[in-house]
Amino acid sequence: MSHCPPLVLPSASPASSGMLASANERKQALIEEIHTLKREKNALILAHLYERVDVQDVADVWGDSLGLSQRAAETDADLIIFCGVHFMAETAKLLNPAKTVYLANPNAGCPMADMITAKDLEAFKAKHPGLPVLAYVNTSAEVKALSDYCCTSANASDVARFAAQECGVGEILFVPDRNLARYVQTQVPEVKITYYEGFCPTHMRMEVADVIKLQQQYPEAALLVHPECDDPIKDLADFIGSTTAIVQAAKASDKPVFIVATEDGVSQRLAADCPEKLFITPTRASAICPNMKLTRLENIRNSLLGNNTPIEIAPHLVEPATRCIESMMRVPRGEKVRLNP
Ligand code: 13P
Ligand code: SF4
Repeated sequence: MSHCPPLVLPSASPASSGMLASANERKQALIEEIHTLKREKNALILAHLYERVDVQDVADVWGDSLGLSQRAAETDADLIIFCGVHFMAETAKLLNPAKTVYLANPNAGCPMADMITAKDLEAFKAKHPGLPVLAYVNTSAEVKALSDYCCTSANASDVARFAAQECGVGEILFVPDRNLARYVQTQVPEVKITYYEGFCPTHMRMEVADVIKLQQQYPEAALLVHPECDDPIKDLADFIGSTTAIVQAAKASDKPVFIVATEDGVSQRLAADCPEKLFITPTRASAICPNMKLTRLENIRNSLLGNNTPIEIAPHLVEPATRCIESMMRVPRGEKVRLNP
């Protein structure tokens, strides 16, 4: 197995090592303050796996969109701080309307979710009348309110199958991610999936040529792929799943090396938890979601102190958007979390 040569850093001067020590002390004090405030306010901190590892580490729960929504739905905390992007905090609020929900950094949006507006969806539905709409959770409350079913990357195939059966149809509409839609089509061939042309810019920046180069460099590696990746990358995969499913598959496998084709936060989580294994993100410099990386520890502290604006949902959207999200909670799960041998 070949490894990159170690990065040799110049040794720290006494002045710079003193600065480093005080930066570490400040960070430690901030982490302790967050833990104290969290207890005082009876808060639940949720972090998506694409967040910085230090943000994931102060959270009560890290995971994928489905797991975090489920935790938001069942919590008895008074306050939910969501470290993720806007649609995630909106989903948590819809599932738990009595709670105060903060998006830790209120500027964190999702460009894929922004690719479809309510008006766009109305036009898409008008082009394909009479078909049920399955919306990826990566959508606004307005879009969910116009949709019949909701899914995450962890349950998309199960929900698509369920939706077609429940409605007694052989075709459904899927918005907005064309890459997830195409993957669902391979898993649910009995249902025609007519999809919208949205995509995740972060996953689309990943180059298949880089994946192939890494496979040649590490022939023993397993390739773990998120379904938001483009088809040529998914075609090479040993395992396709949500971010939590990727983490579980890597932890359960005996392989020493993993090429992790999704946003870099997943490799960072795995490297922290499994130091004996090697995790490599293809096209790493581009496979970073700028929105997910906006959240810092300071944002969490500020939210715990109430220096943030709570998520509010327009009253006319609450009932239809909640019905859409809750549709996925009643679908039985079927996803594998082990690598194929
Ligand atoms: P999951 O959380 O379902 O793995 O999806 C990733 C994502 O796009 C979050 O923005
Ligand atoms: Fe949106 Fe992609 Fe970032 Fe997820 S990784 S928040 S889908 S842009």
